[in-house]
Amino acid sequence: MSSAAKVRVGVVGAGYWGSKHVRTFSSLPDVEHVSVIDPSTERVAALTRGYPGLVSFPSLDGALDCVDAVVIATPPSTHAPLALKAIHAGKHVMIEKPLATSVSDARAIIDAADAMGVVVMVGHTFEYHEAVRALRSIVAQADFGDLYYLDTARLNMGLYQHDVNVLWDLAPHDISILNYVLDSTPTSVECWASRHAHRRWEDIAQLRIHYAQPRVEATVHVSWLHPRKTRLVTAVGSDRMVVFDDLATEERIRIHNKSVRQPELQTDDLSQPPMSYRYGDVVAPYLVVNEPLAVEDEHFVHCVMSGDAPLTGGANGLAVVQVLEAAELARREGRRVYIDEVRERSTLLPESSSVPSIPLQRTTGSMGAVLS
Ligand SMILES: NC(=O)c1ccc[n+]([C@@H]2O[C@H](COP(=O)([O-])OP(=O)(O)OC[C@H]3O[C@@H](n4cnc5c(N)ncnc54)[C@H](O)[C@@H]3O)[C@@H](O)[C@H]2O)c1
Repeated sequence: MSSAAKVRVGVVGAGYWGSKHVRTFSSLPDVEHVSVIDPSTERVAALTRGYPGLVSFPSLDGALDCVDAVVIATPPSTHAPLALKAIHAGKHVMIEKPLATSVSDARAIIDAADAMGVVVMVGHTFEYHEAVRALRSIVAQADFGDLYYLDTARLNMGLYQHDVNVLWDLAPHDISILNYVLDSTPTSVECWASRHAHRRWEDIAQLRIHYAQPRVEATVHVSWLHPRKTRLVTAVGSDRMVVFDDLATEERIRIHNKSVRQPELQTDDLSQPPMSYRYGDVVAPYLVVNEPLAVEDEHFVHCVMSGDAPLTGGANGLAVVQVLEAAELARREGRRVYIDEVRERSTLLPESSSVPSIPLQRTTGSMGAVLS
């Protein structure tokens, strides 16, 4: 580090998300200065107009002597090579989601960071979101009852990516939220996906994710091809139901004090309803107002300065990549895939599982019919 007190941060990628990192890191008192690294002169020029002191570089190689920590906000297929370059130069790294586009690449990043003694963190921004933190605590409370299931929807006329399908682009958010809320990682996954507007990449996907502890299933629906923007996470329990609506201007978390149960006295009388319904108040807990990305970036700087392990470190990122890779296999083979299969495959086949090499298919999956 340039001085004992402050960190020099290089943000690789001056696009949509990298420019937000530039803004948040520029406002942190423990950051000495921010550099931006991107070959696009147009994007760099647009960014430096807003931040006159911003230093820029066309490639990471030229910036390495001027930074202590590197934030990688480039397309997913570039995450691993850029991260490994930074780590081998002794730089701390924060890598945007997904950590990598294969389990083997994610492991290589973690191993390299361990060997070099640098911090590796993944940008699972929702784990720094007050609403997601509230969701986790609500689901864990005794008055929520037994957790029946979770369901997420992340839909829109989305930004198609050059190098990954909708699964690798959007589902990292939901898988990270689910792992965090359940404080667990899944055992297996099923996946259905299909391609419509794009020649190569699936633009809609649905996952069914199985957890063993707690024993619960979650469904995830992601789409770049949907008329209505939706950002929902729903958890349904035996005594309460809770909805996180990230698009709500207020009351992003709503706890519904309602439930459905079988009546205690079972009867064969068809004139009686088979279930009993309980309706109650809807409560919206107060949430501290902050920007999740700012909390995340501040945490990264803290970890770099203190040596503390990040909340979303390499293992957290790897867990999400394992589900994504298992989901890709499930989609291609039309069956449920156990995470252990991917763990074993990846150590045997280090390169073959990366996303860009996946063969083209119209539609596959174990959760729905094949579309033509
Ligand atoms: N955490 C979140 O909520 C969140 C939200 C959006 C995007 N992201 C992630 O951020 C990353 C970037 O997404 P985006 O939407 O900003 O993409 P983008 O296409 O808007 O920007 C990517 C930028 O990276 C640059 N770039 C590409 N290769 C490079 C290289 N080798 N060296 C330097 N620069 C390079 C491009 O020129 C471009 O300016 C992705 O990994 C995405 O998944 C995360």
